[in-house]
Amino acid sequence: MGLDLKLIFYFIFKTSKLKIMNIKHLLISTLCFFLGFNVFGQYPNIENDLDRKVKSFLENNTNNWQDMNVPLSDGKVLYDIIIKNGFTSAVEIGTSTGHSTIWIAWALSKTGGKLITIEIDKTRYREAKANFKKAGVSKFIDARLADAHELVPNLHGEFDFVFSDADKYWYKNYFIAMDPKLKVNGCFTAHNTLMRANGIKEFLEYINGLENYKTTLDKSGPSGISISYKKE
Ligand SMILES: C[S@@+](CC[C@H](N)C(=O)[O-])C[C@H]1O[C@@H](n2cnc3c(N)ncnc32)[C@H](O)[C@@H]1O
Repeated sequence: MGLDLKLIFYFIFKTSKLKIMNIKHLLISTLCFFLGFNVFGQYPNIENDLDRKVKSFLENNTNNWQDMNVPLSDGKVLYDIIIKNGFTSAVEIGTSTGHSTIWIAWALSKTGGKLITIEIDKTRYREAKANFKKAGVSKFIDARLADAHELVPNLHGEFDFVFSDADKYWYKNYFIAMDPKLKVNGCFTAHNTLMRANGIKEFLEYINGLENYKTTLDKSGPSGISISYKKE
């Protein structure tokens, strides 16, 4: 009898402990989820009609980006870099259907800037153009249907922001072609730099070896963004 009681108490003690632990885990997971959602899923402050239009477009299309597009949190990372530095002349290599482009253009609408974006695939290029119109950001974007291998070395002018998100094995070449056109204090960013895709390692080794660039890796998203500032 004594032993039975002991067993019953032991069982109650164990299960209640388990329940408390489960509740604790549940609370912590829920908190982390909402914290993560707020930190990474946050939109910029809404200040004008354009902000309302872009935000509403992005919110209505959250689940419609299925063409290798960046996640929302990475779009916000690009937005923040442009705003923080007041960048005004941007180049994007790899438009796809335009998710990152819209984030970059949204930031440029604040700084008074403009963006050239390059896409080789006609269908995605057309869809991107339609998306820019719906989001209200077309006037900040010069969308080019072209092979970036040819167009990037032939771009004229100076730029202060680059986002590289096309064929990874060509990243180093894109950087080499853009470097002379990138202003001092300008920034070259590249997507998927946490991934093992062919060409990423070579690109990172190359850029990390340059004394006039300071490179960090944003790891807030699953793919990673390398952020390289050009020094004096
Ligand atoms: C990862 S997707 C870009 C996603 C886009 N930045 C976004 O977040 O919405 C890469 C795009 O680069 C394009 N691309 C690949 N090679 C290219 C090249 N040589 N010139 C131009 N675009 C290229 C692909 O067709 C594809 O649409």
